[in-house]
Amino acid sequence: MARRTKVYEGKAKILYEGPEPGTYIQYFKDDTSAGDGAKKAQIEGKGVLNNRLSEYFMTGLNEIGVPTHFIRRVNMREQLIRAVEIIPLEVVVRNVAAGSISKRLGIDEGTPLPRPIVEYYYKNDELHDPMVSEEHILAFGWATHQDLDDIIALALRVNDFLSGVMMGVGIKLIDFKIEIGRIYEGDFQRLVIADEISPDSCRLWDVKTGEKLDKDVFRRDLGNLSEAYTEVARRLGVMPTNA
Ligand code: C5P
Repeated sequence: MARRTKVYEGKAKILYEGPEPGTYIQYFKDDTSAGDGAKKAQIEGKGVLNNRLSEYFMTGLNEIGVPTHFIRRVNMREQLIRAVEIIPLEVVVRNVAAGSISKRLGIDEGTPLPRPIVEYYYKNDELHDPMVSEEHILAFGWATHQDLDDIIALALRVNDFLSGVMMGVGIKLIDFKIEIGRIYEGDFQRLVIADEISPDSCRLWDVKTGEKLDKDVFRRDLGNLSEAYTEVARRLGVMPTNA
């Protein structure tokens, strides 16, 4: 088989050129990192679980009319996606205080927020993804006013969808991060959900016990990460073996 052309390699995924123009193959690695790569490990099977879970969430979003980059899963670790121009922002939606908002604003973890809060971080590892405001985004030309309106609408629709799906299996969606890409169609551009949606990029707490079923298990040494992700997949009925 011909060697594929690698387009980009990140901490948890690799992008290869896809079979047709305008497509990529997204490969999910087992590599796990926290604190901008300060803490690293290989967690066997994590890539398989995240490929399957991201497929599940992205397919669900496509079905309810929230556009994503996802086309189809190719195998245990790879999915075919549309090539997009990534907006250099991490868009975080929070329902309950945890992580950096708790630290920054001194709000106890687990405190429900008065309404979902959307935050933006500039995607830059060297700078440790600093938080930015709409002013920065507009002034530096990362997105327009219209883009920001669209980004907020997309982020809140993803929040409604994911919150509902997770609540259905006894899991509270505390917060999550998404990335947004641009697809150009003639003179028009469309914004779509890109990258991945998985327990690597969400906080998920068991409703009854408060047990953490997300990457905080690794970040905070709380137990076995692949068991936590497997539990999420099992509850959603999307075990990799049911492929
Ligand atoms: O650390 P913080 O509380 O700001 O994270 C908010 C949410 O965004 C968490 O669900 C976390 O997993 C996710 N996140 C991410 N990638 C980052 C930073 C945060 O997926 N680089």
